[in-house]
Formats: sequence, structure tokens, C-alpha cells
Amino acid sequence: MINIGIIGCGQWGPNHVRNFSHLSGSRALMCADLNEKRLKAMKETFRNIHPTYDHREILRHPKIDAVVISTPTKTHYQLVKESLLAGKDVLCEKPLCTSIPEARQLIKLAKKLKRILMVGHVFLFNSGIQKLHNLIDDGSCGRLYYMHSQRTNLGPFRTDVNAVWDLATHDIAIFNHLLKSQPLEVSARGGKFLQKKIEDVAFISLFYPMNVLVNIHVSWLDPRKVRQITVVGDKKMVIWDDLDNVGPIRCYDRRVIPHYYYQTFGEFYLLAKEGNITIPKVDLSEPLKAQDGHFLDCIRNRKQPLTNAQSGLDVIKVLEAIQKSLAQKGRSVRIPS
Ligand SMILES: NC(=O)c1ccc[n+]([C@@H]2O[C@H](COP(=O)([O-])OP(=O)(O)OC[C@H]3O[C@@H](n4cnc5c(N)ncnc54)[C@H](O)[C@@H]3O)[C@@H](O)[C@H]2O)c1
Repeated sequence: MINIGIIGCGQWGPNHVRNFSHLSGSRALMCADLNEKRLKAMKETFRNIHPTYDHREILRHPKIDAVVISTPTKTHYQLVKESLLAGKDVLCEKPLCTSIPEARQLIKLAKKLKRILMVGHVFLFNSGIQKLHNLIDDGSCGRLYYMHSQRTNLGPFRTDVNAVWDLATHDIAIFNHLLKSQPLEVSARGGKFLQKKIEDVAFISLFYPMNVLVNIHVSWLDPRKVRQITVVGDKKMVIWDDLDNVGPIRCYDRRVIPHYYYQTFGEFYLLAKEGNITIPKVDLSEPLKAQDGHFLDCIRNRKQPLTNAQSGLDVIKVLEAIQKSLAQKGRSVRIPS
């Protein structure tokens, strides 16, 4: 039995408590929060859990094998560091921390202490994204031209990080995974409409190797909840829509082919080729449950998680570059390799 302690029981933390209470071979033994109401609610919902105000009580407890950090982003670095030093394996919510040096220190520490350090890039455990990954990987889409993602809603609003660090984190993790690489360069513009120092909207252009162009639109200030990615390749186009219950993946057999005039050499016109739209079967399961199950597997078998701390650092490199570009009104910023 793997005993888990959950630090941070706001909106998201209780989902981890639920999963680790139900997954086979694990138990959510303790939880911590600074807020009394949250602790009371946790005790009422999960009868067997031991709540505490002080996360150090969890870290000192000899029966706790691993911790989940689900607190505001700015607290992640300190809490992950303390947890690793206390000898616990750690699953930290996204993003891992708020700077490249912090991420490097955490990677070094986890390695030195031989602890698992996983980041909650939950969309890599989303079966729709996994299907999209397969379609790109097996060549169905052909050569990729560009991809576009939209992650918008009215709220929830954060005060510790902007919409880029909160929302685009997901998209960057997805695109790095789909393209098995990191972007080379970024250009981003954003708007601070609701809070003076925090962007609530951003339009981000990322330039990946092999000339793949990626665009990300994130917003807390939008009338519609949208979670979509469009992939355009020279063989197929695919749309992932996380909110589509019928089938989150639609494959469009549509492409453009050049037709040559046979009388004149080198001249051609572009012809849009129409085809079927297919909806492949995708097993709908809870991504967070799959992610938490993977964490347990990594603890048991002492293996590197799919979303290890290095992948967390790769995302932070892009986030920092976006932040620089935002500050310089969209100037192109190179991403350190
Ligand atoms: N993967 C996802 O899809 C997803 C979704 C939502 C949130 N998140 C991530 O989860 C984390 C938490 O988000 P949230 O929406 O639950 O935030 P929240 O503000 O609702 O909850 C955070 C909780 O942490 C508590 N807290 C702060 N410092 C603490 C400390 N030192 N010890 C114990 N408790 C402490 C606060 O009292 C609060 O209850 C963030 O990193 C966020 O990015 C991920």
C-alpha cells in the first residue's frame, strides 16, 4: 500500500485525494491546507483522511511514502524542495515552479536523493491527446504545417500567475510531446484587462523545428469554454475538442494538391481535395486518474515518469521566453536549448 499526503486542498487538490483513495494499492492518508474551511470540507467528504494545517506534519510522518503538491504555483518550489529533503516521492501540479534555476535545482535534488519527481502535465494522460499523438506519429497527418490551440473560458482567475503560466503550460506540454521537441523561438502579445500586473489574455506564436508553426490562444476573459487543437498536415487535418462527448477527435481527409497546366512549364494551380470526416474511437477515461495511476507505477517500479521534472523544465523555458516576449511587445525571443 502506498500512502499519499496531499498538500493543498483548494479546487484541484480534492480530485487527487479522491483518486488516491480509489486507485488500487494507494491510500490518501493525510492532507494539508492553510484554510480551516477547506480542511473541514475534506474531513466531511473523506472520512478516513487525517487533515492538518501544517504540511510539515505530513513530511514528518513515517508512513507517508509520497506527496502531491496542489498549492498555488508560487509555493511549488519551496514545498517540492522540502518534500524531497524529507525523503518523499513527489507529484507536483503544473507548472513545476516559476523559473529555470529553480527547476534545475529541483531536478538535481531529486536525482541526488533518488526520489521520483513528476509534474502534473495532465493532458499527456488525456486519451484524445494520446490519439492525436498516434495520428501524428504513424504519419497519418503527413508533414505538419501548423497547429493551433484555443484554451479559453470566463475565469477561473488567478492572482499569483498570469493566464500564460496557468493555461498555456498545458498547451506547451502537449505540443512538446506531439512534436518530440522544443520550440526554437517565441513571439507573444497579451492583455492585462482585469488585473494591473497579470495578463489574462495572450496570443502566442511558437516556432518549432522542421518549420512547424504553432499558435496558442489562452484567456480567462472569454464568453466560451473552449479546449481545442487543430492540426494541419499535408495528408490530413485533425481537430481535437476536449468538450465533444461524441468523439473528441475528428479526422478531415482534406488537403491541397498542386495541379500543373500541361501546356506551360512550371505553372500550377492549387486544388482543394475534399474527403470524408471520420471520428475514431477514443476511450473516454479520467486523465487525472490515469496520471495519478502512472505516479503510483513510477513509485513502485522506480521508473522515470512520462512527465518527469526535465519535461517540466522544458515547459518553463518556453514560459520564461513567452514572458520576455510579452514584456517587449511581441519581440521574437529565442528559447534556450
Ligand atoms: N492539471 C490541471 O488541469 C489543473 C487544474 C486546476 C489547478 N491545477 C493546479 O493545481 C494547483 C492548485 O490549484 P487550485 O485551483 O486548487 O488552487 P486553489 O487556490 O483553489 O487552492 C490552493 C490551496 O492551497 C492552499 N495552500 C497554499 N499554501 C499552502 C501551504 N503552504 N500548505 C498547505 N496548503 C496551502 C490554499 O489554502 C488553497 O486552499 C495549481 O498549481 C494549479 O496550477 C491544475
